[in-house]
Amino acid sequence: MFEETIDMNRIPDSVAIIMDGNGRWAKKRYLPRIAGHKRGMNVVEEITTEASDLGIKVLTLYAFSTENWKRPAGEVNYIMSLPSTFFDKFIPKLIKNNVKVQTIGDVSQLPDKTREAVSNAIEETKACTGMVLNFALNYGSRLEILNATKKIATEVKNGNLNVDDINDVVFSNNLETSGLKDPDLLIRTSGEERISNFLLWQIAYSELVFVDKLWPEYHAKDFRQTIIEFQKRKRRFGGLINK
Ligand code: FPP
Repeated sequence: MFEETIDMNRIPDSVAIIMDGNGRWAKKRYLPRIAGHKRGMNVVEEITTEASDLGIKVLTLYAFSTENWKRPAGEVNYIMSLPSTFFDKFIPKLIKNNVKVQTIGDVSQLPDKTREAVSNAIEETKACTGMVLNFALNYGSRLEILNATKKIATEVKNGNLNVDDINDVVFSNNLETSGLKDPDLLIRTSGEERISNFLLWQIAYSELVFVDKLWPEYHAKDFRQTIIEFQKRKRRFGGLINK
């Protein structure tokens, strides 16, 4: 049997990942949930490196949702400590790989140390011109859509925009992902098949791939396999191309 290989000419430009299953990974090993998040952070490093090596242009990772505050304080605090641990170790490699860090979500609500770690990473990598590593932190898509709607409504109210001129492009430009290509591929690990308030507008034409592996056990070879799965899909964007 032939081993399947990636077609390097059809690498998705933009990939988004819902990194799910850290807690279950830990539970299966009788470990505290935070051990799963720690392992999950290492996987973030591995997948980021692989994505950059493959030539992906935008990698958007759902690290913390607006709903995740409902978790026990100890777990929230631990997740909030991860960006500084991650960036302290990983910034030199990000710069070496020409990866630029960005965020979506309301970072103003994050603890000071988390916010500083993130803004430092953005600052240190701002000249990088390769892959954009976009962390969704305190992000929720409905809130993002509501905020875009308010911005557009204000423009109309102030006489700067006609209602008839509101279109896809205007709306996209008012989202936090403005300037970033919509995901070609959305991946969710852990076997759950939900979107969980992630990039609702942006995934209108994304290919969705749900993988059974839990995030801490999802490795570079699994990611490559997911890309191969994506490459088997026939994308038609509502038309008949490739049929
Ligand atoms: C979902 O698994 C995971 C999260 C809510 C946290 C994700 C965070 C990381 C993977 C690390 C982030 C790293 C950086 C650098 C910011 P879950 O806890 O919902 O798992 P479960 O569904 O099995 O309980």
